[in-house]
Amino acid sequence: MHDQTTRQELLQGSRRSTSVPVNETNKFREVFLPLIIICIACAPIAYLLSLLITELILSQECHKRVVGYYTVWEQKKLTVNQLENLTHLIFMFALIQNDGSVKVNEGSHTTRAYDMKEVISMARKSGSLKLMMAVGDHNANVYPSMLSDPVKKENFMSSITQLFEDHDIDGIEIFWMFVAEKDKVNHSKLIREVRKHLTNLKNSKGRNENYVLSTISSRYTEYREHIYNNEVLKHVDFLTILTHDWANINKHVGPVAPLYGGPKDSIDDGMKYFVCQTKQPSKLNLGIPFFGIQWINTSLPIDDDRNQLSIPTKAGDKSYSYFFWREEDAKAFFPSEVSWHEKSQTPYMFQNNVFYGFENEKSVQAKANYTRIKNIGGIAIYAIDQDNKNILMNATKSVNLCSREDENKIQYDCE
Ligand SMILES: *[C@@H]1O[C@H](CO)[C@@H](O)[C@H](O)[C@H]1NC(C)=O
Ligand SMILES: *[C@@H]1O[C@H](CO)[C@@H](O)[C@H](O)[C@H]1NC(C)=O
Ligand SMILES: *[C@@H]1O[C@H](CO)[C@@H](O)[C@H](O)[C@H]1NC(C)=O
Ligand SMILES: *[C@@H]1O[C@H](CO)[C@@H](O)[C@H](O)[C@H]1NC(C)=O
Ligand SMILES: *[C@@H]1O[C@H](CO)[C@@H](O)[C@H](O)[C@H]1NC(C)=O
Repeated sequence: MHDQTTRQELLQGSRRSTSVPVNETNKFREVFLPLIIICIACAPIAYLLSLLITELILSQECHKRVVGYYTVWEQKKLTVNQLENLTHLIFMFALIQNDGSVKVNEGSHTTRAYDMKEVISMARKSGSLKLMMAVGDHNANVYPSMLSDPVKKENFMSSITQLFEDHDIDGIEIFWMFVAEKDKVNHSKLIREVRKHLTNLKNSKGRNENYVLSTISSRYTEYREHIYNNEVLKHVDFLTILTHDWANINKHVGPVAPLYGGPKDSIDDGMKYFVCQTKQPSKLNLGIPFFGIQWINTSLPIDDDRNQLSIPTKAGDKSYSYFFWREEDAKAFFPSEVSWHEKSQTPYMFQNNVFYGFENEKSVQAKANYTRIKNIGGIAIYAIDQDNKNILMNATKSVNLCSREDENKIQYDCE
């Protein structure tokens, strides 16, 4: 009877009195005490082990891309510090010539490509940096006119082989902006054929590793719907959603790359479209422009009703294509004059009827944070040679892109 009560007390975890029988106390000493001691002693070790294993798994599993474009038209030299944390460096552009062939134009373009060889080979030594060339340009017509002529197309393919010979690259990007609806099929075919060509080239060179193939899309509805995304993703290593798009920038006064808001097709809208359609966030990159835009003779594009930083352009508004937050341009303003727009997550300035929209440390960090939270495969910076003293690049580096999720876990509400 007494025994039963004690057992019940033990089971219920009720307060035990000093009247615990001797045999129960011994049991506690012999069985539970050593167990507790073992647990206490092992906990830190188990914790450390689990940390180590998690870190190992994460360092093996997190393959987020940091892609940087550099241009033939900027003057700034690249530094190793700018390149050391990139996974891919893409030279813009190898242009499509009148006969369909692709090459880096003679003169300043070739000089630029050669000038950067030293620093690139230094960066390639220390890491796993892949060097690529963007083939094409911002002109929507170069691809359709090349593809409609069989001779030009043959020149195109064989000159790609030559591009690899001449520039010691690891891959190419098909840079075809503003794909028209009529070109949807030819675009898809081209990507497939270029992949086939690169596989043949790899085999003929006895190379083990595949060449890298990538392409781009606009974030805007009217162009992104002209790409068979799932077909394209079968053949490319990644697809970059460029956030800037001259065709649309000129229709609204406002920031180049709003994370949210705007009239339509914010970065968030665009990324959601691609992720939901392809279910492969790991193959997508979010484009981050390192340049801004400046509008003169305009009004402050705040639309208070909808909390937007965007108004349709009016007659008299005049946009200047580029605005940089760097030495020369930065003289025009003090950081204290910069405002922050919460919804679009971008900085801006409005002075003397001039509107400046651009990126700063906070806005690139917001975009990098978004990339992590939405489990996107990486970022693509357009362009690293437009940075001011490495400020934006450093800000990008300060954000960890690894989400600790399965690489294709979808972080959008797709329906
Ligand atoms: C960038 O690369 C350097 C040199 O490889 C390395 O020490 C540093 O930890 C890297 N930074 C990030 C944020 O990955
Ligand atoms: C698509 O490519 C074919 C050649 O493969 C060409 O004959 C046709 O005109 C192209 N279509 C368009 C819309 O340009
Ligand atoms: C500014 O806009 C006004 C009216 O919108 C126009 O009359 C004027 O010519 C414009 N000024 C410049 C410098 O474009
Ligand atoms: C980015 O995320 C970090 C960590 O969650 C946070 O501390 C920081 O404020 C975020 N930055 C922006 C600009 O959203
Ligand atoms: C960027 O980071 C590098 C290396 O960490 C440092 O030397 C440089 O001063 C930084 N630049 C800026 C503008 O913070």
